[in-house]
Amino acid sequence: MKLIFISIFALYFFAGCGGEIKEVSFANDVKPIIDENCLECHNSEAKMGNLNFEDYEALMNSRYLNRTQPLVISGDPMQSRLYLVTHSENPMIRMPPENFGYDKLSDDEIKTIKVWISEGAKNN
Ligand code: HEC
Repeated sequence: MKLIFISIFALYFFAGCGGEIKEVSFANDVKPIIDENCLECHNSEAKMGNLNFEDYEALMNSRYLNRTQPLVISGDPMQSRLYLVTHSENPMIRMPPENFGYDKLSDDEIKTIKVWISEGAKNN
């Protein structure tokens, strides 16, 4: 009996420590990246390209110029401009724009956006 108890405990312990992956949060992980790297141009006043990333609703409702497709397609980063523009090889397309003095996002930041979209682009 004691052995069973210890085994169950050990199982819980290792499951807890092992590869438990935290869900990406919009508010805690994605929004800070956007605030620091995108908001200067994509806010309700500047609204460059007709895009406003001030909050979740504004981001999800934004449409680039006269396109109808949203920037974020939940679950599908490869169709989501918000993700694609961050790592485009073409400096004319990549965001934030280097000709405005911005650095490319780090690999971690790009991955955070990708995982958030893959996980359903939730307002979490
Ligand atoms: C210095 C200003 C500036 C910053 C910072 C900036 N953008 Fe942009 N962005 C623009 C402008 C200007 C356009 C419109 C370009 C055009 O119409 O040719 C644009 C267009 C876009 C588009 C639509 C273009 C397309 O090809 O789909 C997306 C998506 C976008 N930006 C995302 C971002 C993201 C994400 C960030 C931050 C990681 C960001 N932008 C940071 C100025 C900026």
